[in-house]
Amino acid sequence: MPRWFVTGAGGQLATAFARTLEGDVFLSREETLDIRDADALRTAVHSYGPDYVVHCAAYTDVDGAEADPATAEAVNVLGTRNVVNAVRGTHATVVYFSTDYVFDGAKSEPYVETDPTRPLNTYGRTKLAGEREVLAWVHGIVVRTAWLFSETGHNFVKTILAAARQRAGSREPLRVVDDQVGSPTYAGHLAAAVDEALRGGLRPGLYHLAGSGYCSWFELAREVVQLAGLEVDVEPISTAEAGRRAVRPAFSALASERPVPRLPHWAEGCAEAVDRLIPLG
Ligand SMILES: NC(=O)c1ccc[n+]([C@@H]2O[C@H](COP(=O)([O-])OP(=O)(O)OC[C@H]3O[C@@H](n4cnc5c(N)ncnc54)[C@H](OP(=O)(O)O)[C@@H]3O)[C@@H](O)[C@H]2O)c1
Repeated sequence: MPRWFVTGAGGQLATAFARTLEGDVFLSREETLDIRDADALRTAVHSYGPDYVVHCAAYTDVDGAEADPATAEAVNVLGTRNVVNAVRGTHATVVYFSTDYVFDGAKSEPYVETDPTRPLNTYGRTKLAGEREVLAWVHGIVVRTAWLFSETGHNFVKTILAAARQRAGSREPLRVVDDQVGSPTYAGHLAAAVDEALRGGLRPGLYHLAGSGYCSWFELAREVVQLAGLEVDVEPISTAEAGRRAVRPAFSALASERPVPRLPHWAEGCAEAVDRLIPLG
């Protein structure tokens, strides 16, 4: 059985991996391991001796990164460099998760691995720099994914469900951006696909793995409200009306031209997450 070392174990994707992976799994959160601490990381990795480092730790607050680029850089770039340095001299594969926000959104069909990158915001720039750190490792794998959601952690599906519950019966609509389109991805589907790909001998390199199909944030919100059976109007608004700090690509759906498992459609993932969230109230 392989040995897995998961960074950022409190996050939504790491939680999905903890449910999916078989074998020995080291969850760094239990040890409160900060990936900015190169020495602590190296010691932890060497004493555990993993076959795979599933590197989920990241600074993921897209608007926050504009206000605090130094922290985004320290975690996403230098922290990732520390992860790669920690496995040097071992046979361990590093799997790093990157984002659709490495693209500028000017394309009108899904982005594939060979498309040129041009991030519009600090989060995207730091994640792209992190990709380069991982691809410099002989056993480095970069998985670009998008619009992650699950029943744990902070994510759009949970936020919409909570907001819709609050408004139910009040006639106050939910106003959601309709001019940004992407590939919503259920963390459980991504973890299962990565596990399958690694067990199938995925080669080092860059891959896109995201929910099949694409939609806008508005369409995703409408789906969540319908699935939850809530009587709430969802109203489309523009990015300009939403007034967020970070610039985001208008179209950043992902597809793959490489031999990786295809994930189920985003709506299937959405149904699964909402089904799990409803009993939680
Ligand atoms: N969420 C998305 O929509 C999305 C889309 C594309 C790609 N990705 C990428 O997918 C990966 C997983 O994302 P996610 O949604 O699971 O993110 P998440 O829920 O925000 O989890 C990230 C985890 O990293 C931890 N972390 C932050 N700084 C750290 C540090 N210095 N040392 C150790 N741990 C640290 C966080 O802990 P605290 O909460 O305690 O800070 C959190 O538990 C990330 O690489 C992200 O960039 C995410």
